Amino acid sequence: MTNAARAHVTSDEAPRTAPRLSVVGRADRNAPAPAASEIRLAATNLHKSYAKASISIPVLRGVDLQVKRGEFLAIIGSSGSGKSTLLHLLGTLDRPDEGEVLYDGGRIDNLPARKCDVLRNTKFGFIFQFYHLLPELTALENVLSPKMISDGVLKYWRNRREHRAEAERLLETVGLGHRLHHKPREMSGGEMQRAAIARALITKPEVLLADEPTGNLDRRTGQEILTLLRTLSDREKLTVVMVTHDLGIAEQADRVVSLVEGRVEH
Ligand SMILES: Nc1ncnc2c1ncn2[C@@H]1O[C@H](COP(=O)(O)OP(=O)(O)O)[C@@H](O)[C@H]1O
Ligand SMILES: [Mg+2]
Repeated sequence: MTNAARAHVTSDEAPRTAPRLSVVGRADRNAPAPAASEIRLAATNLHKSYAKASISIPVLRGVDLQVKRGEFLAIIGSSGSGKSTLLHLLGTLDRPDEGEVLYDGGRIDNLPARKCDVLRNTKFGFIFQFYHLLPELTALENVLSPKMISDGVLKYWRNRREHRAEAERLLETVGLGHRLHHKPREMSGGEMQRAAIARALITKPEVLLADEPTGNLDRRTGQEILTLLRTLSDREKLTVVMVTHDLGIAEQADRVVSLVEGRVEH
């Protein structure tokens, strides 16, 4: 299963294939520490390697990161620097080889798969570069899909009117009120990303994790999407963690950190 699907669905235990690495220093040792109660999401000493033809390739080598409640954080890094890997670990789509991920001060990287599913369906919203909309569903149905999955048939059916009203409201919010019944192939890239953002919001997440959300869009459309994310962050007090290779996009966040050689530089 793709991580895009797992973001909303199931109980697959993530593989733990890569060997452990030694710890080598921390990038934010001198940064002033925010009060623990201010921290929504934190990573300490995250390591992750991928095994390739019996060789272990280290990608993350001791990432330390703290994201405050309501903060819009951008993580910038070149292609292949491990941005997606880090975002997947933060959102429990994959597990670190070493280190911890904390949500509101509680460890989440070692939760059983079922609890990870619940956490993802209630606390996190995911946005991907290639949208990952379901092609056979309309914009409205795509936005409703996490609710169908998390509620199950009976509960969803009982609450279908409220869910539908909420999905329509969200599609209005992202500027897609006129595209409710369009399928992805009938929408532009920017419209698909707007629908994907509405889908990420339907479960009322506290944290949006956005993986190169403007990466497949022209500059103007990408800027529109960024402005939308900024507005959501400001208005809804959403915590946003966005990874990107585009400095012009990253600079519009509250704070920018870099992922370099497997560590976060502040
Ligand atoms: N499932 C995987 N198996 C093996 N190597 C992987 C896997 N996922 C990512 N990688 C490798 O890890 C490195 C970092 O990947 P990724 O996190 O996708 O980087 P970014 O998102 O910054 O482009 C790349 O060299 C990539 O080829
Ligand atoms: Mg990536």
